[in-house]
Amino acid sequence: MKSITVSVIICAAGKGERAGFGKNKLLAPLYGEPALRHTLKKFDIPEIDEVIVTSSDYDYKEISALCAPFGFKVVKGGETRTQSVKNALDKVSGEIVLIHDGARPFVSKKLILDCIESVKKYGSGVCAVRATDSAMYEGRHIDRNELNLVQTPQGFFTEEIKKAYSLAGDKAYTDDSAVYAEFIKKPHIVEGESENIKLTYKQDFMRGIPPLPSDGLKGFGVDIHIFGEGDFVTLCGVKLPCDRGLIAHSDGDVAIHAVMDALLSAAGLDDIGHYFPDTDLKFKGADSGKMLKDVVNLLKQKGFAPARLSVSIQAEKPRLSKHIEDMKEKLSLLTGVARQNIAIAAGTCEGLGFVGEKLGICAYCIAIIKKEETYGKDD
Ligand code: CTP
Ligand code: MG
Repeated sequence: MKSITVSVIICAAGKGERAGFGKNKLLAPLYGEPALRHTLKKFDIPEIDEVIVTSSDYDYKEISALCAPFGFKVVKGGETRTQSVKNALDKVSGEIVLIHDGARPFVSKKLILDCIESVKKYGSGVCAVRATDSAMYEGRHIDRNELNLVQTPQGFFTEEIKKAYSLAGDKAYTDDSAVYAEFIKKPHIVEGESENIKLTYKQDFMRGIPPLPSDGLKGFGVDIHIFGEGDFVTLCGVKLPCDRGLIAHSDGDVAIHAVMDALLSAAGLDDIGHYFPDTDLKFKGADSGKMLKDVVNLLKQKGFAPARLSVSIQAEKPRLSKHIEDMKEKLSLLTGVARQNIAIAAGTCEGLGFVGEKLGICAYCIAIIKKEETYGKDD
């Protein structure tokens, strides 16, 4: 059975004036690359069939260049966000459409999938978080438990939200759920995430940057495995289809092995071969995820916990970009490190060396560990 098709509209046609960068805030750097690129990466996942990005005339060239590597379409926006969404809706081909602010780069894959599921089940899915501050309207307190702060993504059946927008005429709305609520029905709320902030002011760009660890111990790890017979490889605990497998005593998860060595090194412990010798039959075909958990326990016995992981994988195949978020999620589960404190970069070797010649895969990791009692306090 063919599954229901999903399109996404990413709104990026604003001026971003309140951030005061003198240009669209979405083109200002966040973690060293344009903020919008982080948002685009979040939607480059197999569950989404089509992505349409709105752009002003002024930013059209730059936004098109950012979208090209992902194969995302760009359409001209309008004077208001409402007008931009209307223009994009005309081009949508999916049965479901999620509408998302380009200014929310911290959206998680879980939230995106929750929205899609909510549309399938309830006809709409609008992310919102409960207010935590007390709230007042015209001098009078209102019950904050009744107050939802609405985020994006917001998902709908394409035909319904198109109809709502056509009935809305020229009136401007700040979001899509307001248009849907006025002309179709009350939208279904999906529990949003507090990290899913909208970059609005300059200081929001600083908030996205995690604080530098003050007392972390650092360790470095590298691992290499050779390609051999097989039809999948396992990287960061995620099984990926490939026309080759990796030869190893264990399951050959080079990335996890690099992480294990980096953690052990940071704690001043012996290397992976000491704890998991490849002469020991017990580790034949072993699940590296389980071994990583054992390493986390070894650290725990010394009073340490992993705090940050920076992983770099060099592989000519398989293509990894689509799986980075899944890999982060898996590493987070195995190590207890918050997903936002895990970075995974993937690249090829431009045809050079053993990686370039498709002979194997290489992974590096820098890990930061902290004393368990201080871990988490400044995160
Ligand atoms: N947006 C859009 N078309 C517009 C106005 C806004 O596609 N005519 C997009 C923005 O690019 C942003 C999102 O809608 O991703 C939410 O709007 P907002 O945060 O208000 O962004 P800007 O309008 O760009 O910022 P400002 O209001 O500070 O100028
Ligand atoms: Mg605006």
